[in-house]
Amino acid sequence: MLELRSREYVEGRVRAGVLEQRTVDLLTEAGVADRLHHEGMVHEGLELRFGGRGHRIDLSGLTGGRRITVYGQQEVVKDLIAARLASGLDLRFEVAGVSVEELESARPAVRFTHDGGPHELRCDAIAGCDGFHGVCRPAIAGALRVFVREYPFAWLGILARARPSSEELIYANHPRGFALHSMRSPEVIRSYLQCEPGEDLAEWPDERIWSELQARFELDEGFRLNEGEIFDKGVTPMRSFVVEPMQHGRLFLAGDAAHIVPPTGAKGLNVAVADVEVLAEALESFYASGDTSGLDGYSARCLRRVWRVQHFSYWMTSLLHRPPGQDPFEAKLQRSQLEYVCASEAASRTLAENYVGLQRV
Ligand code: PHB
Repeated sequence: MLELRSREYVEGRVRAGVLEQRTVDLLTEAGVADRLHHEGMVHEGLELRFGGRGHRIDLSGLTGGRRITVYGQQEVVKDLIAARLASGLDLRFEVAGVSVEELESARPAVRFTHDGGPHELRCDAIAGCDGFHGVCRPAIAGALRVFVREYPFAWLGILARARPSSEELIYANHPRGFALHSMRSPEVIRSYLQCEPGEDLAEWPDERIWSELQARFELDEGFRLNEGEIFDKGVTPMRSFVVEPMQHGRLFLAGDAAHIVPPTGAKGLNVAVADVEVLAEALESFYASGDTSGLDGYSARCLRRVWRVQHFSYWMTSLLHRPPGQDPFEAKLQRSQLEYVCASEAASRTLAENYVGLQRV
């Protein structure tokens, strides 16, 4: 395993924090979920807030008892790194000059420099888990078809030392824009505000962030968010992106290297884990019996879930955000859809089963 960045960087980088039931189950089976079970916060519902009122979606009641776990993605990363190091297998940070070559041969190569010297690995297969900005996807760009959608807004995210103001996550659609109330522990909240793409953080002093959050979470019956010291601020771009196929020769793309979802619904890590589950099974049968059918079918199998998750993330994003200059007809449709999702059991279940994660696609 080769990582461009330092251990401190990858362990400190704040990302979304919702794990689907199936992700938790898989991490548990893999033996890397002890801390997750201890520190993760299990949620059985969420709130949609609009028009000055809150509406609870009973995720567990609508999905036969399935639940989500709120646990920061960088905590998962810490646990995976610890497990890898404990296993004694190779994991190198701060490698440079990585390239993947001879991908159509049976022994593709990874070349890189580390500790001042050049290295070459000869592999049976290469898992390209190197993210949207990695080297693996560009190495096979000529063989890929790209599908993309940009959104005219972004998220400004904060971490603050404050008690959560609700036991469950709150997704708010407000005339001033979307806002999300989430958490990391009983003492730390994570919150997001819809902002402009490329927003300058210097224009967002803490007081402006709190007053904007307070405005967007308002309720007719009155509501105040607990405030506290903001100790992390960042802007998350919103993009939907997929390449097809997710493989070429002996290179298999997984996670953000192959697809990006906007963060609404927190699917990014979950769909990456689902890719890796498919790849791991395919590699197991390849090594057990030389059977390459799992590897050959990797992309087709992953893309079914990828597109389901793409649609769900796009739909949640469209339901909850206010695009700049929103057309009044679109605004009415959006409000009608929000009311329908809350009033109809069938519509709430559609949200719930996608949110907790579909078992099969
Ligand atoms: C988070 O807690 O970071 C989070 C939660 C839900 C989302 C996105 C991010 O939809």
